[in-house]
Amino acid sequence: MKQKVDLIVHSARQLLTLGPLSEAEVSSALSISPSRPRRGEAMSELGLIEDGAVAVSRGLVTLVGMTKEVLAQTEADEMINASNRVVMPGFVDPHTHLVFASSREGEFEARIKGATYMEIMAAGGGIMSTVRATRAATLPQLIAQSRERLDKMLAHGTTTAEVKSGYGLNVDDELKMLEAIRQLDAAHPVDLVPTFLGAHAVPVEFKGRADEYAEMVINEMLPLAERELREGISNALASSVPFFCDVFCEEGAFSVSQSRRILGRAKELGFRLKVHADEFKPLGGTRLAVELGAISADHLVCTTVEEIETLAKSDTIAVSLPGTPFGLGHHQYTPARQIIEAGGALALATDLNPGTCYCESMQFIIALACRYMHLTPAEAITAVTLNAAHAISLGDKVGSLETGKKADILVLDIPNYRHLGYHFGVNLVERTIKSGQVLYCNSGE
Ligand code: NIG
Ligand code: FE
Repeated sequence: MKQKVDLIVHSARQLLTLGPLSEAEVSSALSISPSRPRRGEAMSELGLIEDGAVAVSRGLVTLVGMTKEVLAQTEADEMINASNRVVMPGFVDPHTHLVFASSREGEFEARIKGATYMEIMAAGGGIMSTVRATRAATLPQLIAQSRERLDKMLAHGTTTAEVKSGYGLNVDDELKMLEAIRQLDAAHPVDLVPTFLGAHAVPVEFKGRADEYAEMVINEMLPLAERELREGISNALASSVPFFCDVFCEEGAFSVSQSRRILGRAKELGFRLKVHADEFKPLGGTRLAVELGAISADHLVCTTVEEIETLAKSDTIAVSLPGTPFGLGHHQYTPARQIIEAGGALALATDLNPGTCYCESMQFIIALACRYMHLTPAEAITAVTLNAAHAISLGDKVGSLETGKKADILVLDIPNYRHLGYHFGVNLVERTIKSGQVLYCNSGE
């Protein structure tokens, strides 16, 4: 008797499972210990099955293997023939500023004419300009604008994303942003993980008083943000639904000691930690992330060699955002090869935001990572799936196609996985399947 399932995706020319690597890992994956991100050379291992199939039931993966094995054991009313296609886990985007109002194309032009990002910010534009628009927007307006971007992310293959606050910069508007993230998560099929980023910039009303603003973040915003983020999470799930606190640790934003104070208090309140580190100047944010046991350190454009070694030996995941130097027209990117060769775990994200990187597509991020950071397509695929899932503490739920994980599956209209990165500027996704439902399809059917 065959097991009746809801959906079978079969005959994939290449099925990338990102599943366990070895016999030893297979048995550890069956125990309760969650899987681990891939480091160093293991980032090239995609768990590739030729002529592969995935069976899905109640939104979860039930069986993965060769098509003939899967079809011998399961049957379904809904069958997707993926012959001549690549099938892989949905992209996980572990660093976005998805929720914002308005846009900043005027600054884009000013930068083309020579202004720098930090100069624009120091003059009251940049992040502050989006803060003004976001404060002025109502909650429904903010949600409506963000939802359009979220639809584009889904169409380009993103099935799970992290989303930060940080364009409110006062109690009410930071809470409004967290509420927008919560409502979007509830209403939209893409799963969202929230991050409180009250320390994204020092708002103009606190100009010259960064310490005072940091104290307000610690004493007023963090406890309220924690309450807002825990609301809606049932007690049974509380330990498994992650929420984060992040700080922009940068000259002109928050110093290492301010960042340490904010993140230290956040940790006491139960937030998991992230740090915007070394985007423009090497302040020591990466070392701080490791010191505090942050889940990830993000950007890492000008991180020192010593800090890369420290990071690579730690459990903190390096999240690289190559769309940001590209978006700014800069030529320096995260030293990803050094991180991988030092044994680090690297993830990739869009950094989607209206200032430095207005890009919803993880496919474009892969294309940049291959060219400017010398990642192979296989390493980049690991960085946008399994490692990205671990960078938001969801490595046991998404990021690979394994029995029991969410059935977040992409059918790509490419003959082999190396076309990801190689072929760019068009959408290679034929179908995005989220929790077993086909939510985007461009096959013309
Ligand atoms: O990650 N660097 C700080 N934050 C964003 C940019 C936000 C903005 O410019 O609106 C980033 O690049
Ligand atoms: Fe960012």
